Amino acid sequence: MSIEIRRPTDDEWEDVCRADGRAFGVAYTTEEMAERRPFHDMTRFRIAVDDGEIVSTAGSYPFDVTLPGGTCVPMGGVTWVSTLATHRRRGIMRQVVEAVHADIDERGEPLASLWASEGSIYEHLQYGVAAQIRMTTIDPRRTGIRAEFRPAPNTVRYAEGEAAFDAMADIWERFRRGRAGEISHDPAHEEAVLARRQRPEGALSAAFYLLHDDGYAIYRIEAKWNAGHPAHTMQVIEFAAVTTEAHAALWHALLSVDLIGEIRSSIIPLDDPLPFLLENQRALRTTDLNDSIWVNVRDASICFGARSYRTSDRLVVDVDGTRWAIEGGPDGGSCRRVRTRPDLVTSHAWFSALLYGGTLPSALVAGRRMTARTDEVLHRADLFFPTSLAPYCQSHY
Ligand SMILES: CC(C)(COP(=O)(O)OP(=O)(O)OC[C@H]1O[C@@H](n2cnc3c(N)ncnc32)[C@H](O)[C@@H]1OP(=O)(O)O)[C@@H](O)C(=O)NCCC(=O)NCCS
Repeated sequence: MSIEIRRPTDDEWEDVCRADGRAFGVAYTTEEMAERRPFHDMTRFRIAVDDGEIVSTAGSYPFDVTLPGGTCVPMGGVTWVSTLATHRRRGIMRQVVEAVHADIDERGEPLASLWASEGSIYEHLQYGVAAQIRMTTIDPRRTGIRAEFRPAPNTVRYAEGEAAFDAMADIWERFRRGRAGEISHDPAHEEAVLARRQRPEGALSAAFYLLHDDGYAIYRIEAKWNAGHPAHTMQVIEFAAVTTEAHAALWHALLSVDLIGEIRSSIIPLDDPLPFLLENQRALRTTDLNDSIWVNVRDASICFGARSYRTSDRLVVDVDGTRWAIEGGPDGGSCRRVRTRPDLVTSHAWFSALLYGGTLPSALVAGRRMTARTDEVLHRADLFFPTSLAPYCQSHY
């Protein structure tokens, strides 16, 4: 019997959860399925059905993503990509994701992006790595914020309640516009996130919220009393600071929490100023650095025309045979199809990787994903595409 690719009906939500859960090794409870339901729009999902059974799923969330220079564009955040073990490696996921891409294109969203469960999957679907994620630990007993950077008393307070959560939503909106790759938060999704954060998660406590006028930090605690030698683990799960003052003040508050042996997080970009504020910067350790956001540009004119560039230049990029002239500078850019001689030649995946400004063209050339007409052209491309602020996304989807 042939496999049917189609949109799931609203009534099939629990079947979609069960199929996806089987592929990811998650057994959703009825309550968990009900909690997630409000922020999953079945019209953005596609499934593969074999003899009445859902065997593959994929969908997308509607986000706004920030591009270099601060312009935001709509984006399809691809998610719930799964195929049952009984049906893997028959090209089913490819068909389902292509159907999701067609939906994203129809909605006029100029790019698709995702977090990958494994680093080997998505180049097959023409996605390139546009940002990285850094895992860190800090030993707060070996460091603190240097005296000259500590905030005045009472600039940070613990927060609870609706007014505080509204303030955090406003701060997030300001914060995410300052960093390429970061996304808007959907209120329906945030409501479910908030409900989840009010509960313990595994060994971790419910969330604690620290609020500053221009930032906030959210963390959970794993208690480790160690028979009278307490050394709890703090997991910082979200951090947004719009000003350098808020950044230092929030870190001072986090580093001042008592009984902590280790602060873990994945919210500190590689170019974060925190090391400069610490008394002993080696107390901050990078424990992992992975690919995070993979991007598939759907509309090159819109995407590369919406971002800014570090230098003023014009480069022609051949992308699987289609040539794009990208012209721009610090104030913006344009991207249009041309027939002229290309300066760079690459595939759709690695062209997409250039969008957020975190990928160095010369690294792509050295990694055999791109060729450059001359060394001089490559040098110009290295100055043109990357941004001074590394792209980063701490929002998982
Ligand atoms: C990853 C997963 C969705 C793949 O589904 P699938 O239906 O077997 O994938 P397809 O057969 O359509 O594969 C499409 C292409 O991707 C490649 N591919 C798929 N999964 C891969 C993997 N884990 N590693 C490397 N390549 C992979 C295939 O080889 C194929 O390449 P080709 O067409 O260029 O030859 C499935 O294995 C799964 O559900 N895994 C567990 C959940 C998960 O990790 N989902 C991804 C979430 S981001």
